[in-house]
Amino acid sequence: MKNIVILISGRGSNMQAIVDAQIPNVRIAAVLSNNEHAAGLAWAAQRGIATDSLNHKQFADRSAFDRAMMEKIDAYQPDLIVLAGFMRILTPEFCRHYEGSLINIHPSLLPAFTGLHTHERAIEAGCRIAGCTIHFVTPELDCGPIITQGAVPVFDDDTADTLAARVLKVEHQLFPQAVADFAAGRLNINGNRVIRTPSAHIESQLLA
Ligand code: GRF
Repeated sequence: MKNIVILISGRGSNMQAIVDAQIPNVRIAAVLSNNEHAAGLAWAAQRGIATDSLNHKQFADRSAFDRAMMEKIDAYQPDLIVLAGFMRILTPEFCRHYEGSLINIHPSLLPAFTGLHTHERAIEAGCRIAGCTIHFVTPELDCGPIITQGAVPVFDDDTADTLAARVLKVEHQLFPQAVADFAAGRLNINGNRVIRTPSAHIESQLLA
């Protein structure tokens, strides 16, 4: 059984998709947040999952917050830490502590559009395809080895919101699969690449 700790900051729909997938050999040990009012915390608590929060504003600096969060996380002895809409830039110390067992979802086709406002920027840049990326986390923001990506078309009348909704559906499909692949030991990091064994015939998906 693999213990998983999920970190969220808000609504937590990706966290919900992972919980609802009931992945074999995966136990959701806790859902933690930097925001005690995150809607996803209440959702998880209602399902009997341990929840906790730490307000980053109550810490002197980023590093003090990350250290406190690491202590909380480590109490659950996790095999995998999942960032599911955790809106914090992490210190190198945090990233190194969980190297190889920390994954994130980012709402763009990395390496394009790291950082915030990805959908707006993809539309402004005239992209015809957008999507999401699930990747291992390294100290450089949104740059770690890519586990999987999903793509969707960008339509002429898209707004950031309509595009975000289309991408989110794909996020909910890919994230539980990535967690399942990790838990089953199918993901091997080789330099900047993630080799999945057995290999998947369709690694990326184009979904309408
Ligand atoms: C998702 O789009 C995720 O890719 C991004 O933040 C959003 C979180 O949504 N990092 P939710 O909290 O999982 O509903």
